[in-house]
Amino acid sequence: MEGKTALIAGATGLIGNGLLHVLIDAPEYKKVYALVRRPLEINHPKLMEVVVDFDRLIDYKHYFAVDDVFICLGTTIKKAKTQEAMYKIDVDYPVEIGRIAKECGAKHYLVVSSMNADSKAKLFYPRMKGELEEKVQNLGFEKLSIFRPSLLLGDRKEFRLGEEVGAFLSKGLTFLFVGSLRKYKAIQGKTVAKAMYKVAQQKEQGKTIFASEEIENIGRQ
Ligand SMILES: NC(=O)c1ccc[n+]([C@@H]2O[C@H](COP(=O)([O-])OP(=O)(O)OC[C@H]3O[C@@H](n4cnc5c(N)ncnc54)[C@H](OP(=O)(O)O)[C@@H]3O)[C@@H](O)[C@H]2O)c1
Repeated sequence: MEGKTALIAGATGLIGNGLLHVLIDAPEYKKVYALVRRPLEINHPKLMEVVVDFDRLIDYKHYFAVDDVFICLGTTIKKAKTQEAMYKIDVDYPVEIGRIAKECGAKHYLVVSSMNADSKAKLFYPRMKGELEEKVQNLGFEKLSIFRPSLLLGDRKEFRLGEEVGAFLSKGLTFLFVGSLRKYKAIQGKTVAKAMYKVAQQKEQGKTIFASEEIENIGRQ
């Protein structure tokens, strides 16, 4: 059968779950492998759910020989409890998945980072995302796409106070997010997902970093 193969990590999350549905419905993909730690409860002929121990990713190497690798993993400090635990999910797992996939011949690595990612930042979160970006650049993929969304909007099962307040302000103050401030405008998780899928179909090689307003433009086309 013609078509590409994809590996996705984070398929139970806001962006990742939206992306998973886009990928399995897309004619460009014949198979989508979803690395999860709990079942997805979706059945689809193109989907292969792989329940893994993320601390032993190398044991699942035989699923990593794909065309496109999509990383939508992440957590919050509230859930992770410590910065070390958060770093493991937001940086170590994405880098290890990329390392194994590159070794298995994957061509394109697409990862969700965050607005303001900066390895020199004083604050932990932007510094962590900046370090993620630096580490994935060292993996040597032919094509690397880094997505830096602003505050994410969408339906979550859990309540995140900071994001709810941010979303409320962002919606109420839409008129402020023009010109150079457009990159701060909140963005729907499903728009990020659509943009990742579209970028995966583009032929250009090399590294590209997509700011939130660019993600919005691509995802809404
Ligand atoms: N929230 C925002 O406003 C915002 C803004 C900019 C960038 N971002 C970044 O965007 C990315 C995606 O965000 P999102 O809101 O779509 O994420 P999300 O809904 O919180 O989903 C996170 C995904 O990571 C998985 N995950 C979490 N802990 C894990 C662990 N210990 N082992 C394996 N998998 C684990 C989750 O799996 P389970 O379902 O099994 O937990 C889920 O699939 C994240 O990197 C985030 O930092 C977020």
